Amino acid sequence: MQDPGNLEFSADEMRAMGDAVLRRVVDHLATIESQPVRGDTDAAGLCRALREPAPEHGTALEPLLDALFDEWIPRSFNTASPGYLAYIPSGGVYPGALAELIGAGVNRYTGVWLTAPALVQLEANALDWLRDWMQFPPTTRGLFTTGGSTANFTAIVCARERKLGTRLRDGTLYLSSETHHSVAKSARLAGILPDRVRTIPVDAQFRMQVDRLEAAIEADRAAGLVPFMVVASAGTTNTGAVDPLPQITAVAQRQGLWCHVDGAYGASFHLCPELRPLLAGLPHADSLTLDPHKGLFLPYGTGALLVADGEALRAAHSLTASYMPESQGEEFYDPHQYGPDLSRNFRGLPLWLTVKLYGAARLRAALAGKRALALDAARRVAALPNVVMDAPPQLSLFAFHLEWPGSTRAGQDAATRALLEQVTRRGKVMLTGCHAGGRFLARVCVLSFRTHRTHIDTCVEHIAEAAEALTAG
Ligand SMILES: Cc1ncc(COP(=O)(O)O)c(C=O)c1O
Repeated sequence: MQDPGNLEFSADEMRAMGDAVLRRVVDHLATIESQPVRGDTDAAGLCRALREPAPEHGTALEPLLDALFDEWIPRSFNTASPGYLAYIPSGGVYPGALAELIGAGVNRYTGVWLTAPALVQLEANALDWLRDWMQFPPTTRGLFTTGGSTANFTAIVCARERKLGTRLRDGTLYLSSETHHSVAKSARLAGILPDRVRTIPVDAQFRMQVDRLEAAIEADRAAGLVPFMVVASAGTTNTGAVDPLPQITAVAQRQGLWCHVDGAYGASFHLCPELRPLLAGLPHADSLTLDPHKGLFLPYGTGALLVADGEALRAAHSLTASYMPESQGEEFYDPHQYGPDLSRNFRGLPLWLTVKLYGAARLRAALAGKRALALDAARRVAALPNVVMDAPPQLSLFAFHLEWPGSTRAGQDAATRALLEQVTRRGKVMLTGCHAGGRFLARVCVLSFRTHRTHIDTCVEHIAEAAEALTAG
């Protein structure tokens, strides 16, 4: 009789199961263009019906795949679609998916150098590539995280440890009114309470006002507090604004603050030498968040942090115990000494495999291509009647609103919101909006590797038709 506790599959069974899964994934990707960009997510009833106790006995794989691919996956925002121009797109390149399979399949222990030295070295290589592309100094150490939010969190922890010591309650942190909310959340998680977080206003281009930043730092210092960190954005989520990084890093240096740049959306454009002037000052930050699952097209689950003084990252995390292997010293990167995780997935493999398979040149070309598409779309949208371009693309994101003679602010906001709904309802292009500068804006962000000229043509056409209908008369 077979042991009921035997969880093994035979090699043939594993192959058959793998083939079945891969067939579904590849079919899904091969037809992504024809799938609606915004699935029906009005699914509260479905979600209630899905609740179930853990099954006592197993089910065959095929019916589970049927349900996943035919019923549940389609009921989501199609973030892998070429028409997904909402929020900050991701895409999810196929090598990234393969890397996830390999990592989980071989299930090696990459939290500790000694247990998988060559694999950890690949991860260290991928971090070094990020460091080189961002032109960070040789002293840099990095960390792959689950996303931009956790990278921002880790940066705040480093700054707190370096700059505040025991004066945690006195430390003040500076961000702008356009900073991603993960920064304020991370500050709270790191013990910096909301009454010590200062929100600096932005200028007409939605960029942090540097004179207001310096004034706020000086006021806090005069009040006996300890200004310790400023967080600048290299591409805000709302409008894609790049804060004045050279001036902010200079203020930080002058005032003795840690300058972190949140480049979750925009930093990857620094790969392209011709675009580096748009991100001038970025290499002089103390730390930088990148989000390869956005700007390097990877599937969700890969963020990254670079810290120029790598010793600060190590000092914040390094701790050991008698059951742990001896530290490897300086030469080899030991992930658990640089981040909060011990056991973890092979987090660097998706980026490593993606860069190895495509080569950096293709990634650079893709990034430059997305920006060119955004510039083209913005030029054509700005030329439409009754469209006001509030934020032309600094990188690959722009924001606009509808306005016509005799319209009120409330009417403009409502029409702009209706434009997003009308465009998205047509199923080819998904857009989202934001509140910025006291009004509601529609935004277009081109970052998926699947977005090409035909999709931009459709986007512009659908915006034009909705704008005309909504502002007529
Ligand atoms: C500028 C910025 N920072 C941080 C984040 C958070 O990144 P993640 O969703 O990977 O945690 C985002 C997400 O869109 C972002 O746009």
